Amino acid sequence: MTDTIPTLSSYDETALEAAFATLAEEVRTSAAALTTPEAQENFRLHWLGRKQGRLKLISDAWLKSAPPEARKPLGIRFNQLKQQIEQALEAPAAPIAAPKVQALDITLPGVIRTPGIAHPLLSTMHEIVRVFHHLGYSTNLGPQVESDFYNFEALNFPQDHPARDTQDTLQIANQHAKPSRDRLLMRTHTSPVQIRTMIAQAPPIRIVIPGKVHRNDAADATHSPIFHQIEGLCVDTNITFSDLKGTLDHAMKALFGSAVKTRFFPSFFPFTEPSADVQISCIFCGGSGCRKCKHSGWIELLGCGMVDPHVFASVTEERRKIDPADDAYNPEKITGFAFGMGVERIAMMLHGVSDIGHFYSGDMRFLEQFA
Ligand code: PHE
Repeated sequence: MTDTIPTLSSYDETALEAAFATLAEEVRTSAAALTTPEAQENFRLHWLGRKQGRLKLISDAWLKSAPPEARKPLGIRFNQLKQQIEQALEAPAAPIAAPKVQALDITLPGVIRTPGIAHPLLSTMHEIVRVFHHLGYSTNLGPQVESDFYNFEALNFPQDHPARDTQDTLQIANQHAKPSRDRLLMRTHTSPVQIRTMIAQAPPIRIVIPGKVHRNDAADATHSPIFHQIEGLCVDTNITFSDLKGTLDHAMKALFGSAVKTRFFPSFFPFTEPSADVQISCIFCGGSGCRKCKHSGWIELLGCGMVDPHVFASVTEERRKIDPADDAYNPEKITGFAFGMGVERIAMMLHGVSDIGHFYSGDMRFLEQFA
């Protein structure tokens, strides 16, 4: 800030105009730096100080030699200048933002992060798989987009089997140029992974296969076009239907409680012979009959059977493309059993869920009950 008193060349209107414009500019410039209380106080003293203030010094100097008629216009202009100075003090320039220090407020409530849980379908799958792990089974997985060969042909489904129909199976588009066995579809069951496992591996086999399957089904309270299955396969020497019965009876007791009974009904699957449907005694009424078991005392839960020799023949044909002498799945020497169960159905029974749609809705009010 300058301290010299500017000289006034004359007291006419233009000279005053020019002189005060220069002073106003000087005030504006020095007011631009008023970012701290100290700077404000210096600015105030510099311009308005009672004895040495620049405004007083200039007005004294200029008024002293002013002709009488110039006193009034001078006074008015000094007043305006004073107002400008006072305004600058009232509204100082915005202070330069101080570097932000992030304060930690230890009185704020903490952020609650609720830990996630396994989806009830996933935990049911884990539960079932664990029962079989304890029996020495391992786990295998397979693709959801599958070829006709693995899903149907190698499993002994005849060409015209109704399950192959588009009414039941979701076919991948534009497959007609391919030979039938290579046509792609969404797998309708986990059984194709039986074939994949046996082609890759010689007996003994004890394996469970959890996974998603797809069917061209309308959704209702108990059906969904996408659902989950767990497949089982056991192949070794001297595997009999008794082994199948004992294994599944144990598994159902492990899942639903030791009081549960099982019974096997003749059934049909192209890839097992003989085949059976397994029923368990109703877990809701203990077998005396209720609405849940349609008053029969029994609930049908899974399909199973002894591996059909045609399946071993398909597997052998594939394995011989790699090793023409392969005889690992000779049905004269080895036998096996397979089973398949729906995960949703078991989860609904275990947890008393009445609508399959709850599993897929993502509704937290439903899911939170499993936390
Ligand atoms: N794949 C059969 C189904 O989806 C179930 C099954 C598996 C039956 C293994 C027998 C043996 O219905």
